[in-house]
Amino acid sequence: MNYKKFNLVEDKLSVLGLGTWQFAGKGDWPNFIKNDAIKVIHQAIDASINFVDTAPIYGLGHSETVVGEALKGKRNKVFLATKCGLVWDDSNNVTNNLTKESLLKEIEDSLRRLQTDYVDLYQIHWPDPNTDINETFEALADIKKSGKIRYIGVSNYSQAMIKEGMKTAQVVSHQGLYNILEHNPTSYHNIPLQYKVRESLLGFLESNGQFFLPYSPLMQGLLAGKTIFDKGAVSNNPELQGERLSQHLKQAREVEETIGKPINEIALNWLIAQKTVGPVIAGATKQLHLSSNLKALEWKMNNDMIAKIDSIIK
Ligand SMILES: NC(=O)c1ccc[n+]([C@@H]2O[C@H](COP(=O)([O-])OP(=O)(O)OC[C@H]3O[C@@H](n4cnc5c(N)ncnc54)[C@H](OP(=O)(O)O)[C@@H]3O)[C@@H](O)[C@H]2O)c1
Repeated sequence: MNYKKFNLVEDKLSVLGLGTWQFAGKGDWPNFIKNDAIKVIHQAIDASINFVDTAPIYGLGHSETVVGEALKGKRNKVFLATKCGLVWDDSNNVTNNLTKESLLKEIEDSLRRLQTDYVDLYQIHWPDPNTDINETFEALADIKKSGKIRYIGVSNYSQAMIKEGMKTAQVVSHQGLYNILEHNPTSYHNIPLQYKVRESLLGFLESNGQFFLPYSPLMQGLLAGKTIFDKGAVSNNPELQGERLSQHLKQAREVEETIGKPINEIALNWLIAQKTVGPVIAGATKQLHLSSNLKALEWKMNNDMIAKIDSIIK
């Protein structure tokens, strides 16, 4: 395994991480099988992957619960990242809530489900337009002081919001949509995005010493050989339907033929080669899939390959 070291974080982080939205279970990811998913976490740890990303909202607590179960006796082997700011009521209606009161409750719920007494990276999942950013960051700073979280990160935040938050607490990372076919996406599953990753965010983060966590690094399976997206969460991604899907598949094939390596390895190594990019949190629930992703670590993307890819993906 290769690792990256970022100034604001004490630990070295593995270049490949593990995303666990897929551990949400049946509704979002209909092919989920719990025992397989637990084996994938153990396989990841055995392969020296030390970064696992989850969130309360993934299956309304289900992903965190499965991750907690899988990490029993292995907690100190991973840098565990979860999120906050999306909450649900008794009827499972989901709302954005980054108020102090809600955050103080959320962290306790996450710690319980994850069976741990600390989270390494606590990330704001999506902005909450109804709560003052200062209130949110004061609450996060208090939670950090209590030792329940080690570092604060954000996701889907604009640069202006990060700057505002940084007045109150240190922010070490930003998680956003970025992959070989989506360089500066303006929306995700029809939700508008307030950041441009390649155009400006990566440079902004680098100048602050922060790192970037790319979500959907395999474009939800398209960059790993999947061609049909008609069930679960992926069926709501407009990039994976109709004409847009055909265009993306065509470009992926062209990249694969040009570089001469499997597309999943190309997609992962393209991200790993970028210095501001931290662990690439590819989601997988099948051991076969993780094995195939680990093969990316057997070679490195060079500048010539990057230039060739850039000439295909304009
Ligand atoms: N912050 C946010 O708003 C946000 C949004 C989306 C995602 N995320 C995070 O980012 C992580 C990854 O993003 P993502 O879930 O959008 O998708 P992704 O990692 O781009 O793709 C995951 C999909 O690819 C499949 N896959 C992985 N490796 C494969 C291989 N070698 N061969 C064939 N299929 C393969 C997985 O299948 P199997 O499950 O069958 O193995 C799964 O269906 C999530 O798990 C989550 O932690 C964060």
